[in-house]
Amino acid sequence: MCGIVGFVADSGDALPFLFDGLKRLEYRGYDSAGIALATPEGIATQKSQGKLAQLQELLDRLPRGVPCGIGHTRWATHGRPTDENAHPHMDCQGIIATVHNGIIENFQELKQELMGAGHVFASDTDTEVVPHLLEAYGGDKDLVRAVQSAESRLKGAYAFLAMSSRQPDTIIAVRRSSPLVIGWGEGVHYIASDVSAFLANTRQAQFLENGDLAVVTPQSVTIHDGQGQITERPVTTIGWNIRQAERGGYTHFMLKEIMEQPDVWGDCLRGRVQNGRVVVEELGLVSRQLPKVGRIQIVAAGTAYHAGLVGKSLIERLARIPVDVAVASEFRYQEPVLTDDTLVMAISQSGETADTLACMALARHQGMSTYALVNQVGSTLARESDRVGYTHAGPEIAVASTKAYTTQILVLTLLALALAEARGRARPDLVEGLLMLPAIGQEIVQDLEHIQDMAAQLAQSPHVFYIGRGMDYALAMEGQLKIKEISYIHAEAYAAGEMKHGTLALIEEGTPVVAILTEERLAGKTLSNILEVKARGARVWAIVGKTLGRELPVDHLLSIPTREPFLSPALAALPLQLLAYWTAVNRGQDVDQPRNLAKSVTVE
Ligand code: M6R
Repeated sequence: MCGIVGFVADSGDALPFLFDGLKRLEYRGYDSAGIALATPEGIATQKSQGKLAQLQELLDRLPRGVPCGIGHTRWATHGRPTDENAHPHMDCQGIIATVHNGIIENFQELKQELMGAGHVFASDTDTEVVPHLLEAYGGDKDLVRAVQSAESRLKGAYAFLAMSSRQPDTIIAVRRSSPLVIGWGEGVHYIASDVSAFLANTRQAQFLENGDLAVVTPQSVTIHDGQGQITERPVTTIGWNIRQAERGGYTHFMLKEIMEQPDVWGDCLRGRVQNGRVVVEELGLVSRQLPKVGRIQIVAAGTAYHAGLVGKSLIERLARIPVDVAVASEFRYQEPVLTDDTLVMAISQSGETADTLACMALARHQGMSTYALVNQVGSTLARESDRVGYTHAGPEIAVASTKAYTTQILVLTLLALALAEARGRARPDLVEGLLMLPAIGQEIVQDLEHIQDMAAQLAQSPHVFYIGRGMDYALAMEGQLKIKEISYIHAEAYAAGEMKHGTLALIEEGTPVVAILTEERLAGKTLSNILEVKARGARVWAIVGKTLGRELPVDHLLSIPTREPFLSPALAALPLQLLAYWTAVNRGQDVDQPRNLAKSVTVE
């Protein structure tokens, strides 16, 4: 939800970094974008609705060789995506510029107050109250003090950067829930919503904590904590490199991220399996605590929620521990009943999803033990949970989550197997079997022709149904989300046995149905459901486990080369992802940046 960048150096040119940083953060929002540079003569700014390509056309109107500036790429919350609502926003005198991520909840009352005092607003955004408040608190003379005073007036979850043409060597960075990280270089500091913005320049990163206010100059970073005390935050070295955050010859990040999954699975499993046993400590957990886990409550959103559903099935069936899975935006308001032996587990690629963070805060408040399964190293969720396990999927840039999802499934499988062993139900065959998945995954992603064929047909259809039972139903839910979000085809996932309770009425001649069937024990049942939709004219495409597809009366068959259901979910996800990808490509959609969406949802 909005990407923000800042650059302040002894000398040099902020503009190339700001634009490049915004390109790398464009996945966070792409409704509009803008850049401001602080020169002693005043703030120079350019902004435009639409994607960064539109801003790029305006860049030659900005001065070069200015070493201090901020930039923004927007996912609209308050106010339509217009030039006026694009950030940076300024005070009345044009001295102070700000960029902002998140929501200022009390902006209406602040705006009224400021307008009453003569401030003139140029946009419909909540953000614009910030530069005007800074102006009201004397930001033209002392920006730090003005930010400290303004801060006490703002309500909400946000991060912002502010700079003034009167102090053109300083950027103030404020973090209240929305992420901010400072990159350290020689005589230069970078500021960004996430590290991918500056990985090409430095891997030395300093994550701000909630409540921090950082005064950033070329030579120093002074951090005040939520109580106003000067504090230190560690500078860590980021393990990712910039190549991982680039397209590497693929037309879209999504395709690259799908195709690299087999390798990424290798990274995810590395060091976590030894002699048929899961190395529990490598999951961020402590072995002796596992037998004490009596129940697990998973919270997550979107694709991560779907991974949680697969996890529920794996943990319950392998370890016989009850698992509840909740959509984070619902759980936080459900007044959940949590028993002392419950482990509350959040799953999130970004580690910054506002609803998921709120659930974990609630669990901590109730004294629960918390565990986060996260991809982004150093993210808020990772830092605010008792324990953290990483998916090690590397940077995921496409809005549609793919490799984060399958690595979440792999870690959940490891966790289920570790819990199973702790309860005397060890399955060394499955633990070893996991190590085969990268090679099997490689076979699947190479076999593209069939899927492209299916996608060309699906692209013509206004809707599609996904059906399955058990874990296959959880996969169906992910399949339908993938196709919806990038191809804009209406899709529904149904528990296969549930279709006849109403939804079957929607099946007519030619309706596409994707059936997932990876479990032998359920094959007969799902086959009946396939026959039911076929009898009503559906075109059925089936994704099946090895040996299950031989007799199926379907129009297209994709076979997963394993018959082990507990190891199938990540493998079966591959054709679902590729089907969604090629369907969207066939429809000419913007695959990596689907309309109305953003990669990390840092607002409620
Ligand atoms: O970063 P998170 O995993 O917490 O994000 C959760 C969802 O916003 C995310 O999975 C979303 O549903 C994806 N766009 C799906 O592809």
